[in-house]
Amino acid sequence: MPTPFGDVYSTNITPDLDTGIGRYSADEFVRAVREGVRRDGADLYPAMPFDSFARMTREDVLAIRAYLLTQVPIAQPRPSNILPFPFNQRWALGLWKLANVHVGGFAPDRSRTEAWNRGSYLVEVLGHCGACHTPRNTTFGMDEDRKLAGGTAGIWQAFNITNDKIAGIGSWSDEELFRFLKTGAVPGKAYAGGPMAETVMNSLQHLSDDDIRAMVTYLRDVPAQSGEEKRPRFAWSNPPVATANDSSRTTAQGSGNSAGADLYRSLCAGCHGVNGEGSADGSYPSLTRNSVLGAAAPENVVMTILAGVRAGDVAGRKSMAAFGDWLDDSQVTSLANYVTARFGNPEVSVTAADVRQMRAGSTTEQTVMLLAAQALVAGGVGFLLIFAFLLARRHGAVPRQM
Ligand code: HEC
Ligand code: HEC
Repeated sequence: MPTPFGDVYSTNITPDLDTGIGRYSADEFVRAVREGVRRDGADLYPAMPFDSFARMTREDVLAIRAYLLTQVPIAQPRPSNILPFPFNQRWALGLWKLANVHVGGFAPDRSRTEAWNRGSYLVEVLGHCGACHTPRNTTFGMDEDRKLAGGTAGIWQAFNITNDKIAGIGSWSDEELFRFLKTGAVPGKAYAGGPMAETVMNSLQHLSDDDIRAMVTYLRDVPAQSGEEKRPRFAWSNPPVATANDSSRTTAQGSGNSAGADLYRSLCAGCHGVNGEGSADGSYPSLTRNSVLGAAAPENVVMTILAGVRAGDVAGRKSMAAFGDWLDDSQVTSLANYVTARFGNPEVSVTAADVRQMRAGSTTEQTVMLLAAQALVAGGVGFLLIFAFLLARRHGAVPRQM
């Protein structure tokens, strides 16, 4: 799992005795899921979203355990995490938890309907939507005051899904939201790519319609939070070029980026259409009126080109190949800038340096954050040394200069 701090490997949760959860008692298992504590007492990294699971009912945790215990045990130790200092210090997680984890069960709000409460439990706890969609505060916990106002999942932007009509999904209909959660595809609005495609493929598509409706009920009630967008992400649709040969307009709309236009025509137009209109049967999505291209940030466009889309054939959706191995950073940059300017939000662009970092798994912001954290710790250690020195001097351990 890529995190802003480095790569964390998820653990083996098959019933294997030595490398899995075979020796966990019921209580130990509940503690791991809700409090993020390993059987040996060490703290787990919050890459496992126990800050969301903290309010899961004991009954549900034990039901999950019962299911896992029927799986085939697989002996497989996990690779070591790739985390730079100071994030490789597990003890520091205790401090993080004090600030950010509130264990205490799920208390239904009696003034709301049963569907709202069910939706709240599914969105906030089991579905841990906030793990990706809620921005992080200064201690990197979920910012409870800006619930679902847009966060990150690795490099991917997990968009604002509050009720704001511009920055969020306030102008989607209930039916569109239902369809997105159930299938990941809503022509004219959005398609689930990256980690959201996995969420739909591995989880949401299996929920009952009633549960999805309950989530829609709850999401409709999440207070609106405004953001950077000036119009809804899905609302960008630059007028189509009349014919494929009308290169003057193509160039104008692609901001003079002829390398991008050439790449688009040879690699993308076959599926997405010369004018980005998608295929007539809707199986290849339209690139106009598409929330990824209309977003205020370029990450998801770049990541879609690099990594493709694995839609898992949910409701007949097709997947898109990854182009990361075939295109160099400057080609990805031309292409991303061309499709964004032509079909989406023309104010957004990337540089080849941004693309290189995204390919490597970090953004400039994350690199700056890491350096800042290291500087902070180095500063803290320096401060402690000076403090210890002064203290020692006071007690006469270090000779005083007269
Ligand atoms: C692992 C991270 C992750 C989790 C968990 C997650 N999402 Fe997402 N979600 C994303 C990302 C990333 C996108 C952008 C997808 C794209 O670029 O195609 C997204 C997109 C969306 C969108 C479309 C917004 C738009 O304007 O295009 C909706 C709606 C949404 N998610 C709802 C949810 C709900 C509800 C849950 C909880 C059940 C959830 N997500 C859980 C990462 C996540
Ligand atoms: C073989 C057909 C095919 C080709 C070629 C192709 N795509 Fe796609 N593209 C798809 C499909 C299928 C999807 C996802 C549909 C879904 O999510 O249901 C998609 C999705 C997308 C999305 C939206 C992702 C999201 O999360 O909303 C973008 C942007 C995109 N493609 C851009 C491109 C670009 C740029 C190229 C050229 C490098 C390209 N595509 C080439 C089939 C294709």
